[in-house]
Amino acid sequence: MPTPTPADRFSFGLWTVGWQARDPFGDATRPELDVVEAVERLAERGAWGLTFHDDDLIPFGADAGTRDKQIARLRDALTATGMTVPMITTNLFTHPVFKDGGFTSNDRSVRRFALRKVLRNVELAAELGARTFVLWGGREGSEYDSAKDVRAALDRYREAMDLLCQFVLDRGIDLRFAIEPKPNEPRGDILLPTVGHALAFISGLAHPEMVGVNPEVGHEQMAGLNFVHGIAQALWHGKLFHIDLNGQRGIKFDQDLVFGHGDLVNAFSLVDLLENCGYDGPRHFDYKPSRTEDITGVWDSAAANMQMYLQLKERAAAFRADPEVAEALATAGVPDLSTPTLAPGEGYAELLADRSAFEDFDPDAAGRRGYGFVRLHQLALDHLMRAW
Ligand code: GCO
Ligand code: MN
Ligand code: MN
Repeated sequence: MPTPTPADRFSFGLWTVGWQARDPFGDATRPELDVVEAVERLAERGAWGLTFHDDDLIPFGADAGTRDKQIARLRDALTATGMTVPMITTNLFTHPVFKDGGFTSNDRSVRRFALRKVLRNVELAAELGARTFVLWGGREGSEYDSAKDVRAALDRYREAMDLLCQFVLDRGIDLRFAIEPKPNEPRGDILLPTVGHALAFISGLAHPEMVGVNPEVGHEQMAGLNFVHGIAQALWHGKLFHIDLNGQRGIKFDQDLVFGHGDLVNAFSLVDLLENCGYDGPRHFDYKPSRTEDITGVWDSAAANMQMYLQLKERAAAFRADPEVAEALATAGVPDLSTPTLAPGEGYAELLADRSAFEDFDPDAAGRRGYGFVRLHQLALDHLMRAW
């Protein structure tokens, strides 16, 4: 079994291992988890980073003394263990004030309060050396179409993002923002519901270079989408700033299972992509230890996320090193897609003059080609299962 080390850049949300398993139907099944214990237990298991919402560390509305004390306790635990805080995020969803959203609440005073809460947390991110600031707008949305002017809401979302970027620029803070899409839950419909929506939104900002995405496995799968395709497109745009790894089984509520405990085949392809695309950011787990688990189950499930990732990394490397796979990839034409469709210097005039491309081309013959995709996929699954 591979052993996680800080070089793997595994990070966990404090709200993940710290989840007390309160759900809409039932009370907490586990006691509170102190931040120092979270840092120590994660470090012992080979994790590299801890991430948190402001309110995970400092209770909402806490006085300055409590705030300073909690930050100091976290800092001491980081120093003692060598753990880092690679990412920070803001809770704009728990308190009733945010019931209609933060940046896009219909109530302007709430929008201003939300901005102040985030700005305060950006300063904390700078103090702790976090490089990514995630924004998950779980309450930005609606249940009723008549209740939200979506175009105005997007104006307000943009206004907020532009202000945050300006603040970071003016203060000289080394921080990038990552928007986390989700289609629904807790709102009936959330704004920026998928990676694609978020990418399009970012292109309309004042500082698009400072804003990327933080896609979550389960969130795209809740929308019936292929997570690997979403990640590949985010990479293509240069926008994969962060990632939330977990597991989801189909189109239903956000399950937040252990990474790989949902669509394992897609998880295999995801690790294969992440390990071969030059992504050097955190491998961040945003899962929830199931409600059935006691504290032993919490730490077992945290370790399971990292083990799953490392095992898939091994399987993906074996898949890529297998000569039979190389041959099957060639038969399938996978490497050929990297060859430009036009020759160097060729434009439409040359293409129109090329009889081999059309007049002399035999589409029926090309249509008879077998691509061998099924054999290739079976080889991938053989490697995934180590069935040889
Ligand atoms: C969810 C989200 C959150 C965010 C977190 C960080 O569905 O609840 O995934 O866990 O990732 O708020 O911004
Ligand atoms: Mn989630
Ligand atoms: Mn998430």
